[in-house]
Amino acid sequence: MKKRVIIDTDPGLDDAVAILFALASGLFDVVGLTTVAGNIGLERTTKNAAGLLAVAGRADIPVFSGAEKALLRDNIDAIVVHGDDGLRGITLPPALAPSRSGAVAWLAETLRTEPSGSIDILALGPLTNIAQLINQYPDAADRIGHLIAMGGTVLEPGNAGPSSEFNFASDPEAVALVLHSGIRTTLVPLDVTRRVRLDTDYVEALRGTSVGDTTADLLFAYLQDDRRSRPLHDPCVMLLAAAPELFGVDFMRLSVNLGDDVDAGALIRRETGSPVNVAMRVDVPAVLKLLASGFR
Ligand code: RIB
Ligand code: CA
Repeated sequence: MKKRVIIDTDPGLDDAVAILFALASGLFDVVGLTTVAGNIGLERTTKNAAGLLAVAGRADIPVFSGAEKALLRDNIDAIVVHGDDGLRGITLPPALAPSRSGAVAWLAETLRTEPSGSIDILALGPLTNIAQLINQYPDAADRIGHLIAMGGTVLEPGNAGPSSEFNFASDPEAVALVLHSGIRTTLVPLDVTRRVRLDTDYVEALRGTSVGDTTADLLFAYLQDDRRSRPLHDPCVMLLAAAPELFGVDFMRLSVNLGDDVDAGALIRRETGSPVNVAMRVDVPAVLKLLASGFR
C-alpha cells in the first residue's frame, strides 16, 4: 500500500535526492509538492521542485509555492552548501507543467477533501507553510495523518547555531506552532541524519536509470570540495516514512528557543514542553540499502 504524501520542501540538494527517491521507489503516492523559502529563495526552490518532477516524468503531480519568508524573522539561507541555484549547478529539465501559488490554501483544500488521516506530510525545510496551515485552517491541519519533519538537534551540535539546526533556525515560531498543535509529529533531527552518510562509491552505484543518474549527479554536487562524505538529512524523512522499524524513536517534551540569540530555533527538553516523537537512532546500513534500492 503506497503511502499518500505531500512533500513540503526547499530544494536544495538533499531535498532533491529525497524527492527523487520518493518518486522512483514506488513506495509513495505523491499527491503534490509544496515549496518554501529555505536553502535558497522561494522562486528557486519552486523551479527546482518542478524540475525534479520533470526528471521523473511526473506531469501529474502539482507544485504549489508557499511562504517566501519566515513568520516573523528575516530569512537565512544555505547557499554555501547548495549554491545560489540550490543545486550547485546541476541542470534539471524544464517544468512539465506550470507551478501555482497558494500552497497553504491547496494543502487545506486537499486535506479537507481526502479522508481524515489519509495523507502524511513529509517536511524537508522550514515549517512556515505548515504553521500557516495551522493558523489559517486548523480544521484541515487536524486532518494530517502524520507529519514527519527533518529538523532540530537534541544531542548533536547544531549546523546553524551551536545548538540549532538550519530548518528550525529559519523559522523558530513556526516550529513552536507545529509542536503545540497536537498534530501527530515525528522529528528527524541531526542526531539521526548526521549518521546517514554517503561516499563516492555509494553514489556511483546509484546510476543506471535516468532518475538514478540525476540523483548521482546531485549527490556528487553535494559532495563538493571532494568531501569524503556528507549527511543525507532530508532523505531520512522518506526512509523513516517507508521503514520506521529501521529507526529508534523516543517520546520527548520539547520547547523551542524563540530568542534573538545565536541559538534561535534550538530545541529545549523540559517537562512543560510539547509532546513529540523524535528519531534518535537509525540502522545505517539498512537505510542506505533501502535508499539505493529505490533507484533500481
Ligand atoms: O539542516 C539540514 C536541513 O537544512 C536540510 O533540510 C537541508 O536541505 C537544509 O534545508
Ligand atoms: Ca531541506
